[in-house]
Amino acid sequence: MSIQNEIRRLTAPDIRSRKGGEPIVSLTSYHAHTARLLDAHCDLILVGDSLGMVMHGLETTVPVTLDMMILQGRAVMRGSRRALVVVDMPFGSYEASREQAFMSAARVLKETGCGAIKLEGGRRMAETIAFLVERGVPVMGHIGLTPQSINTIGSFRAQGRDEADWGPIEDDARAVADAGAFSVVIEAVAEPLARRITAEVAIPTIGIGGSVACDGQILVLEDMLGLSSRVPKFVKRYTDLGPSIDKAVADYAREVRSRAFPTSEHVYPLKKTV
Ligand code: KIV
Repeated sequence: MSIQNEIRRLTAPDIRSRKGGEPIVSLTSYHAHTARLLDAHCDLILVGDSLGMVMHGLETTVPVTLDMMILQGRAVMRGSRRALVVVDMPFGSYEASREQAFMSAARVLKETGCGAIKLEGGRRMAETIAFLVERGVPVMGHIGLTPQSINTIGSFRAQGRDEADWGPIEDDARAVADAGAFSVVIEAVAEPLARRITAEVAIPTIGIGGSVACDGQILVLEDMLGLSSRVPKFVKRYTDLGPSIDKAVADYAREVRSRAFPTSEHVYPLKKTV
């Protein structure tokens, strides 16, 4: 047996069993090279549809297609060995019917080899979540701010900052959990509400602009690395890679223009004849 086979990949039930336990570490990745780096530290890697905005410069996630998600999902699977890889279902690939959702989810699982899918929506998606789970598709829910609904909600504003608005968001969390999701992302909701939902539902909550009390946390990798120009309040920049990349590219450009690169170290001499 190869070393590769000896490393067991985490599964959706593994993540489900972490409720109330050691916090679940998650980040997004869209590429094999970042997946390789994340795999050593993360329990869960999300191939988020945020790739539309982060990689492709789109204004919203709405134009992202299933083919885009599958392509990057495959890359992340190739780059990782241990983390559970979850691939986002993009807008338009699952909302029309339970059958449409199953066909799209089956494509994602078959064509990427990932371990689960994520979809946005609470009560309105509960029936679909149950349909998928009953048919062998592990589902991660996503409630609170759901960016795919940008055209109906109007802005990427935090949810539940007025206690009067908590009821429907709590109902969403309960509906997703009761439908059989193995975990739920809670995005941009008031901290006390995220804390309360975490105490209320039996599945792990993964916060992004949620609460430190959530069962896990997730951030968009490029945001926490300082590669995104504008980030929401909930992002902590753990480093600022932008200036380092700028300096490296400027150094390269200068050396190319002055013929200081490549040196003998970076070119191939003729083979030595004996
Ligand atoms: O698409 C994404 O990256 C996400 C995270 C923000 C949770 O859904």
